[in-house]
Amino acid sequence: MAPSSHFSFATRAQSLEQSDIRAVTQRVEEVGGINLGQGICDLPTPEPLRAGAQRAIADDESIYSHYAGIEPLRRAILEKEQAYNEVPATSPEEVVVGVGSTGVFVTAAMSLLEAGDEVVLFEPFYGYHRNILELTGATVRSVPLGGPGSTFDPEAVEAAITDDAKVIVVNTPANPSGKVWTREELSDLLDLMERHDLVAITDEIYEYMLYDGAQHVSLASLPGAYDRTITLSGFSKTYNVTGWRLGYGVAPAPLAERMGLMNDLLYICAPRPLQHAALAAFEDLSDDYFEQLRDDYAERRVLLCETLEAIGFEVPRPEGAYYALADFSPLAATRDGFADDAAACETLVQEAKIASVTGRSFYEDPADGRRQLRFCFAKELPVLRQACDQLRGAFG
Ligand SMILES: Cc1ncc(COP(=O)(O)O)c(C=O)c1O
Repeated sequence: MAPSSHFSFATRAQSLEQSDIRAVTQRVEEVGGINLGQGICDLPTPEPLRAGAQRAIADDESIYSHYAGIEPLRRAILEKEQAYNEVPATSPEEVVVGVGSTGVFVTAAMSLLEAGDEVVLFEPFYGYHRNILELTGATVRSVPLGGPGSTFDPEAVEAAITDDAKVIVVNTPANPSGKVWTREELSDLLDLMERHDLVAITDEIYEYMLYDGAQHVSLASLPGAYDRTITLSGFSKTYNVTGWRLGYGVAPAPLAERMGLMNDLLYICAPRPLQHAALAAFEDLSDDYFEQLRDDYAERRVLLCETLEAIGFEVPRPEGAYYALADFSPLAATRDGFADDAAACETLVQEAKIASVTGRSFYEDPADGRRQLRFCFAKELPVLRQACDQLRGAFG
């Protein structure tokens, strides 16, 4: 076999590299520490989903499904989107079940974008969004949005829009900042989308993780928005099944059909037995489940944010999702090892055995994230408590 240096990789593959997140995960494992970096939650999968998966495998639900998902699941998702998200979809034909919400994001991006098109992405962004959008050949225009304390500025978007702009990506509640878009902000965004004829892809994967009275509003629920919006969500975060790779999108039928065909081409279908298992999430879990989820994360959020503040971070309180994007400037003023985000990340691994994610991972210009680290609080409470003890022990 030819040495790997002889391979001539496609341009799209050349820039791929192990993300900072994976690298720090490896580092913290080496020192036997706790990983607050990667957004994997280690909480248990609800029993009805586990039982459903076992049942589906025992029942031999093992062959390909319809490329857009089994009908009962698409119907259940439709009903959930109507009730919780107030999205005015009317038929399972408008629902695509895919390989995680990421898989559906890929089908949406591949169905809409190509070289020459432009797509607006807000910063700080979720890296997969940016990298997948780039894979389509489209040009990504990053627009600063900020975190929980910042308000969407239509003029900043307006300045980034050219005649080639086609798509805008919204993530609410947002990873990494914890910002939750308000109805007013979404309404201003819709106005802009209508004037520039843009389609929105909204990633709402953290739609149930909300704090301090924040409300989740789906862009597609606003009058006139559904016709130009793809709403994405999934099972990974709400039901602690990140490895199941099951997510979905809701969009007007012609768009959903195109995404379904793209899903067929790229993946054929989402894992069939797990589609049956996911039905249990709708059939067997009541609203109490979401209330409990919210309360559990609210407790973890306070624990982590107060610990970070106590040791010298500035922590804009996340309104949603399960991350804190914290600024270590005050700590840097009093200690060595915090020259920039990479140094700070390494210092936390060495001195507290805690993994975080460098701020640069969320910005086009790495300098914009040089004072920030992201921490994930989707951890079992005893593990999070231990992590907080380690942080206080090292820096308190
Ligand atoms: C904003 C956002 N979207 C999507 C995902 C991945 O979702 P899925 O597992 O459904 O592909 C993540 C995971 O970290 C995320 O933070």
